[in-house]
Amino acid sequence: MKVDIQEKVRFFRSFLANPRQVGAILPTSRRAVRDMLDMADFARARTVVELGAGTGVYTEEVISRLHPDARFLAFEVDADLVATLNERVRDPRLQVINDSAENVESYLNGDKVDIIVSGLPFTSLPQPVKWNIFGEMGRVLGPDGVMVAIQYSTMAQRDFERHFASVRRRVSPVNVPPAFLFRCSAALPQGESQGEVQGR
Ligand SMILES: C[S@@+](CC[C@H](N)C(=O)[O-])C[C@H]1O[C@@H](n2cnc3c(N)ncnc32)[C@H](O)[C@@H]1O
Repeated sequence: MKVDIQEKVRFFRSFLANPRQVGAILPTSRRAVRDMLDMADFARARTVVELGAGTGVYTEEVISRLHPDARFLAFEVDADLVATLNERVRDPRLQVINDSAENVESYLNGDKVDIIVSGLPFTSLPQPVKWNIFGEMGRVLGPDGVMVAIQYSTMAQRDFERHFASVRRRVSPVNVPPAFLFRCSAALPQGESQGEVQGR
């Protein structure tokens, strides 16, 4: 389904109510969504988690790539956006969760995550929330797990390097504003830092 004007208006309303939490005035463009999801291997993934699902632009595309036996948990803190998300996407593999990305582990029943898809605005989140989320990612990602993330600046790259041994970056120029797409893997134990960084 297309992101229609009503969804954009709802998203913008949430931005006005909570600018630092929402972190963007419009949902991500379809092209940037596809470019970012191309950075992860969904055919092999059995547990996928989305953080900051918004109106569901990534959620919808993840479902189209999801293995039939996979489980998909989408987290969104904003109750209005969750309502939009639930209207937009329905799939038996998907569980939409109106809770913070800080609490992922408690919904997993011990499963490890193969792919985390993040739309979170790391640079504008309160620091304690941000560090809680990185801690949670380190606990729930499997040994071969990856996190793909969209950001509107490179400021969060330092944070990614502190938590992952491998951080790759590409640019999606057609998004408004232009977006940086990250692929992070090999999560480090908390406190370790500084892995390889490759940009293009
Ligand atoms: C930049 S928007 C991205 C929305 C959508 N993924 C997209 O690309 O259009 C960031 C989203 O993260 C959500 N968010 C912020 N903090 C969160 C948290 N701690 N847990 C879950 N979602 C959060 C916001 O409410 C918002 O919907």
